[in-house]
Amino acid sequence: MSDKVQTLRLDRLLANMGYGSRKDIQALVKFGRISLDGAPVTDADMHVRVSPDLSSRMKIAGHPLDPPPGVVLVMHKPLGVTCSHKEAGPLVYELLPLRWRARKPAISTVGRLDKETSGLLLMTDDGALLHRIIAPKSNITKRYRATLARPLRGDEAAALASGKLMLEGESKPLLPVSMDCIAAPSLSEPVVQVTLSEGRYHQVRRMFAALGNHVTALHRDSVGGLLLPAYLDAGKYRVLTSDQTASIFAG
Ligand code: URA
Repeated sequence: MSDKVQTLRLDRLLANMGYGSRKDIQALVKFGRISLDGAPVTDADMHVRVSPDLSSRMKIAGHPLDPPPGVVLVMHKPLGVTCSHKEAGPLVYELLPLRWRARKPAISTVGRLDKETSGLLLMTDDGALLHRIIAPKSNITKRYRATLARPLRGDEAAALASGKLMLEGESKPLLPVSMDCIAAPSLSEPVVQVTLSEGRYHQVRRMFAALGNHVTALHRDSVGGLLLPAYLDAGKYRVLTSDQTASIFAG
């Protein structure tokens, strides 16, 4: 997503992508195990232009190169998996290929979802892009589907839209949030869709607590203009194209 074109020595690039030490890469080159555009690479010192098409042009032992730096992923985060190293339980990073854990720069989540929240999670190694997505001035909306423990009172949508709702322990009201009922409001466990542009800690759960209710299930289905792809099963991820990445800002 960033416009600057980076050029890196092949051995440094592949070492940073977790393929081994620079010595290991030099050995792979020596044994003709790395090819570019169908021809064996003969010089581990060669400078390569780091662009997304490199993963289709370069092969390591016959396998396409992993996505080069500047990667953006959309993951369908499953329940029970955490985004935080400080929390117990399996991490979202464990759903990525093992080699990717050695990447520099590291792949990080763009914001977080709670352990018991499922849905669209973005991940990237592009720090500038990550900050652009989470920056308040980008005003990127996030849409969630929440199942509630108790019937609606009827005033929730207005309270959320008012820009006056306070979360417990905070001194600044929430920016307006839109709420739609996506199942009959009279249901004993209503299902609502909420769209918000802030990302406060446990925001959706705390919002409904402030309204006298309780969230029993939470799922995020979009970030900006990017929808969670219907074909992406829980626990799976895809690399985004630059157009798909741009769609995040078009929400
Ligand atoms: N709000 C929450 O309460 N939890 C999430 O994971 C995301 C938003």
